[in-house]
Amino acid sequence: MKRKWWHEKVAYQIYPKSFKDSNGDGIGDLPGIISKLDYLQELGIEILWISPIYCSPLADQGYDISDYYGIDPRFGTMEDMEVLIAEAKKRGIHILMDLVVNHCSDEHIWFQKACQDPDGKYGKYFYIEDVKEEPPCNWRSYFGGGVWDKLPGHPDKYYLHVFHKKQPDLNWENPELREEVYKMVNWWLEKGISGFRIDAIINIKKTDEWKSYPADREDGLCDIQNMLEEANGIGEFLGELRDRCFDPYNAFTVGEVFNEKENELEDYIGDHGYFSTKFDFDPVVWGKSSKGWYDMPVIHPDAYRDCLYKTQTEMEGKGFVANIIENHDEPRGVSHYLNTEDVANPKYSLKAKKMLATLMFSLKGLPFLYQGQEIGMENVPFTSIDQIDDIHTIDQYQVALDAGFSEEEALQVIRRFSRDNSRTPFQWDASTEAGFTNGSPWLAVNPNYPTINLESQRQDPDSLYSYYRKLIALRKNPEYKETMVYGIFEPIEEKEHNLISFHRKGDDQTLLIILNYQKETRTFTLPHPCKKVLLSNVDMSNFDPEQISLKLEGYQAVIFEV
Ligand code: GLC
Ligand code: CA
Repeated sequence: MKRKWWHEKVAYQIYPKSFKDSNGDGIGDLPGIISKLDYLQELGIEILWISPIYCSPLADQGYDISDYYGIDPRFGTMEDMEVLIAEAKKRGIHILMDLVVNHCSDEHIWFQKACQDPDGKYGKYFYIEDVKEEPPCNWRSYFGGGVWDKLPGHPDKYYLHVFHKKQPDLNWENPELREEVYKMVNWWLEKGISGFRIDAIINIKKTDEWKSYPADREDGLCDIQNMLEEANGIGEFLGELRDRCFDPYNAFTVGEVFNEKENELEDYIGDHGYFSTKFDFDPVVWGKSSKGWYDMPVIHPDAYRDCLYKTQTEMEGKGFVANIIENHDEPRGVSHYLNTEDVANPKYSLKAKKMLATLMFSLKGLPFLYQGQEIGMENVPFTSIDQIDDIHTIDQYQVALDAGFSEEEALQVIRRFSRDNSRTPFQWDASTEAGFTNGSPWLAVNPNYPTINLESQRQDPDSLYSYYRKLIALRKNPEYKETMVYGIFEPIEEKEHNLISFHRKGDDQTLLIILNYQKETRTFTLPHPCKKVLLSNVDMSNFDPEQISLKLEGYQAVIFEV
């Protein structure tokens, strides 16, 4: 595996609408981000992915773009963007934009022209079909309902949208469309960004035919995964994108790639892969059900470990994944991967959160933090569906009701899985609206902000924030960097209940990571003596290098040098 400039770095995702509002309109913005660059530098961030800030009606919070070359005025101006790139650069921070090219907005000029003249040039930028009795196929869109809707102004035609109906799919089979995309990507790279996070990219290749599959719900529709499994040939598009755009700029790219086919990992993230890296979504996909969120089990430590080990083993020697515990599409990691009762219990909460952080940073790959993760932001105790903004959540609430759940039960499902859990404003301090805005925030602040906020953690050496800084420092420490970044992952206990332990092996250094993933104590026999404790979430100053038997507190995590 070739070494790349970004392997040693730590990355961070900003969800701009909720990061920092500079002008009191309740919406986070670019000047807000610029004002926090010093903070991000202090934390140790060197790659910054900004979720979409392009012009957009915000039907899907910016993932519905109406102008790829413009900044939405709610987020700022192109000048702000240029300042952000320049100021970030001064601090050694690389900026990534979000590349959303499976679809655009129905308010994009291309789609409007397609509606004026479906048989003309722009009609061919989309998938448009003549209306027969039935829509061309029965795929269910990600946000509910079928993927086909009537083309506005043309009752005799359908257009395709695999996401919301305000997100028409772009037709990648059309070389003219692909040229438009490449031109735009290169325009941004010319502007000085370092690369992209690549949205929903797996969807750009459809099956050759509009083929229906057996229905899996009462709605008569089928999960779109059926189609994705049968679609072949995405590599031609992605290879072209790489050759025409990413390679010439040595750009860094991270793909939102779910469910790639077996043996395709190297095609995606190998030395000459389509992308630099991809998020490890194995734990995210675990338990997903085509019935809906209500049918999804809560992930437990052993299943989580199995998912992580699978990816870690598969990628060895092939590429480098990006590790996450949360993002803007997922609930908060500490609420999802830890026992919620223990997170609510002051006796375990901080220790458990630090354990999860230790795990993420000890795995091989690029650690990708999501805003608020570094202070342990948690899921939101939503009490009514009216508090939800997200279109996906609103659909899943209805799906649960349709399946016979009561309103309270459906809400419980939402509290667990809603994307709005991670979209509430960043909790800067204990002042009104958590210091996010002087106005009224577009989405209510999590009521726990008086206790969970950055200001209260920044000076506290024992806080989660300080612990994240220690993990980041360890990754960059010249003495351990080589092993932390490139050391081979080697599991020790693979089947022990609620225990994660593995080695990271470098050429002449070995680290041993042990996590007691439960509130109960346990005794652990070290596979060999350990020289030194590099980091732990409990006081281990009494550790004796001769020691072989180790008594672990609940949620204790430790990184040893062997
Ligand atoms: C990706 C984004 C998500 C968005 C979807 C459609 O999954 O992360 O937020 O809704 O694509 O663009
Ligand atoms: Ca604002």
